[in-house]
Amino acid sequence: MNVALLHRLREAGGGFVPWDALGPDPSPASTALDVDALEAFGFALERHPYLGVAYRGPAARLCPDQIEWELGTRVVGRRVAVWSRVTSTGDLAARASGSSANEGLAVLAEEQSAGRGSRGRSWSAPAGSSILMSVLLFPPDPLGDPAWLTALGAVAVAGVVAGEFGIDARIKWPNDVRVGDRKLAGVLVERGKGTVLGIGLNANLARDDFPEGLRNSATSLRALLGRPVDRSETARSLLRRLDALYVEAIASGPDSLNAPLRDRSEHLGHDVEVATPAGTLAGRLVDLGLRDGLTLALPGGETRRVAWPEVKAIVNRD
Ligand code: BTN
Repeated sequence: MNVALLHRLREAGGGFVPWDALGPDPSPASTALDVDALEAFGFALERHPYLGVAYRGPAARLCPDQIEWELGTRVVGRRVAVWSRVTSTGDLAARASGSSANEGLAVLAEEQSAGRGSRGRSWSAPAGSSILMSVLLFPPDPLGDPAWLTALGAVAVAGVVAGEFGIDARIKWPNDVRVGDRKLAGVLVERGKGTVLGIGLNANLARDDFPEGLRNSATSLRALLGRPVDRSETARSLLRRLDALYVEAIASGPDSLNAPLRDRSEHLGHDVEVATPAGTLAGRLVDLGLRDGLTLALPGGETRRVAWPEVKAIVNRD
């Protein structure tokens, strides 16, 4: 597939690109064949005999070539595999964990028959509606800590949603990405021979696509924006952001994730209740760090540190 041509069309923002500007190849016949191939894949294009070709919309299905095009990542997404139906993308990523040469493999699927959520729950989404992605990693210590990797996934998703779509996505500790009080995405880290970072992002689900029990507590990019999004482009952004955060942490240590985590936290600066094995603490969350845990300003003026292993739940109270 000629993805360079696809990008030239996308960049024209819906305007016609003249035939002779559509490729380095001067042969209009071969350009027309490339346009045919894009249309056959499912991209919506409009052709005009004199004006050229205009981009009208993404393919309904994920396009591996588009996801990989000029991806430029160092680790995450070094290999990309797109499947139509799998049990769980996590299963396929784990199957590749016998060789560390597969580090960075990103498995995406249109549909999962046995998608997994956190705490033993299932994760389901209608075929073709979501970004269902698992990335195989072999993280050096201390980046292998599941809590750190969960934060990595959540920070990357929230960053893409904010950066690409201007939506104020926030991280509800430990693994939810929410907009307001509705869940938009979840992160699941599973450890075996390698570590698999799984992300489920509700992209193009309509409100009615959610099971009734989730309709008031879940949302999608489509519901928030009022239009469907280009899932391949969103997956590409997500791989890039995951890679940038991961590579930075390898170079400068796990604390590099603290600033973007604080920036996108749903709890920081709010009055919260923190459930711990010793009881519930109420106060203002004045700081959080992946190594140091939480810092609460208690009502009496005292400041209290709570280490992550002590934190069972955080609930905003304001
Ligand atoms: C959560 O419960 O919030 C975590 C959901 C994680 C879902 C993703 S979808 C891609 C990957 N494959 C799975 O089976 N689960 C994760």
